[in-house]
Amino acid sequence: MIVFTLESTCDETAAAVVTDELQVLGQAVATQESLHEQFNGVVPEIAARAHLERILPVMQLALERAHVRLDQLDAVAVANTPGLAGSLVISLMAAKTLALVLDIPLVGINHVHAHIYACQIAAQRNVYPCVGFAVSGGHTSLFDCEAPTKLTLLGGTIDDAAGEAFDKVGSMLGLAFPGGPALSKLAEQGNPAAYSFPRSFLKEDRLAFSFSGLKTAVRYAITGPGKVDLSSVTLTAQQKADLAASFEAAVVDCLVGKALQAIQQTGRRVLCVGGGVAANRLFRQHLQTAAEKHSIELHFAPHSMCTDNAVMGALAVERLRLAESDSLDLDVIPGLMR
Ligand code: KG4
Ligand code: ZN
Repeated sequence: MIVFTLESTCDETAAAVVTDELQVLGQAVATQESLHEQFNGVVPEIAARAHLERILPVMQLALERAHVRLDQLDAVAVANTPGLAGSLVISLMAAKTLALVLDIPLVGINHVHAHIYACQIAAQRNVYPCVGFAVSGGHTSLFDCEAPTKLTLLGGTIDDAAGEAFDKVGSMLGLAFPGGPALSKLAEQGNPAAYSFPRSFLKEDRLAFSFSGLKTAVRYAITGPGKVDLSSVTLTAQQKADLAASFEAAVVDCLVGKALQAIQQTGRRVLCVGGGVAANRLFRQHLQTAAEKHSIELHFAPHSMCTDNAVMGALAVERLRLAESDSLDLDVIPGLMR
């Protein structure tokens, strides 16, 4: 069975051709970073318009790379939740059109659940049941995953997502958007103990995250307590690296600590981590060490599948196996990207 998967939840336009054996026949991703860079964040209207321009060429490219024709497709899948309404609707309309014209099933999938499913695609074997952890620019969510499409939210962030915090602190340090990868690189030169930043909820049982206090703490470390204007401050290269390293260490402590608590509270022995921040070097290292210590089977999404892509939409295969599909009334559910 050949499934065509589409993704436009935020600022990546992506398409992939996958099989029910989880083989990737071809894929394409168009990023929009250059369009949003000057605003230090994703502008929904700009994202929606860019998706509209890119969706057809991206679909075409994925099919060409897969050497698959439209009439060979058995189903079309689309991430219809969560995300930006104007972005989601572009790939949903494209998917519905294909489903109608080719008379094939339409399968809606949850983008956050798909980030976790990336671990299954990489492992090429069943990794469920597990604790699933989606850590990206839009979400920091822990799930108890009974099966690929049977997830219960255990907890998540009450304010910023981890990636969002990386991007905002990156911007404070003068790094280009999205700041996560650059901040992580800068942190390699810094001292993680130079600044003592807060680790919210870490000593509590509650599976929750909060990064807004941490962001403010970084700002005050730069400007001085109670001051918000960054423009009058000049930091040395070492100060910047120390701030980056201390910030990254605080985020990673929270992510690792809560992932371990989720394992303890659920009794699961397998942990699957996906999303853009799952590409973070320090996070991967620290979680690996903790997993070995606590005998947890740890799966990270491979780097190529951490940030948004359509390959992880192979999650649709799991719904098709259960004989599930959607009608052409399927709608977008923007929802909260927590
Ligand atoms: O999964 P993703 O592409 O988008 C959402 O669904 O939100 O994740 C993008 C996020 C951005 O915030 C980016 O800064 C962050 O992932 N990110 C990283 C790293 N690589 C990407 N954050 C920290 N360290 C990294 N190496
Ligand atoms: Zn994502």
